[in-house]
Amino acid sequence: MAESGKWEPKILAFLCNWCSYAGADLAGTSRIQYPPNVRIIRVPCSGRVSPFFILSSLQKGVDGVLVSGCHPGECHYLTGNYSARRKFALLKSLLEFAGVEESRVQFSWVSASEGARFAKLIEKVTAEIRELGPSKRLVKTPHQGVFHATANK
Ligand code: FES
Repeated sequence: MAESGKWEPKILAFLCNWCSYAGADLAGTSRIQYPPNVRIIRVPCSGRVSPFFILSSLQKGVDGVLVSGCHPGECHYLTGNYSARRKFALLKSLLEFAGVEESRVQFSWVSASEGARFAKLIEKVTAEIRELGPSKRLVKTPHQGVFHATANK
């Protein structure tokens, strides 16, 4: 909830250390404005992000998740971002099956020199998730780690 009393989305961004995190840092040091809805988690590589991190984030009340890594062919661990792309394609299918809106989870590539691109990406993701409203589809059951889809009210 924003200070104005209006609902604002909470977005979690998993950024690879070598490209996207550096791009976010560049946006900050260049004083490029972007929405404050995003909390960043720095990971060594986008390939390190397990789909369970994303499901768990949604389950815990995050409204949207962004994963961003190096551009294809530029991963510092050679193929981590290709591995991430394959995992996330499967995750999208699972989310669709569970009735979770596809745009709640987004993937992108941002390099260390793309601070402005990072800021634009955060604006776009925030606007799309704001449009969707609060996430209510995944709720925690008494059995930890089990996800159930519920009807949005
Ligand atoms: Fe950036 Fe692998 S090191 S995606």
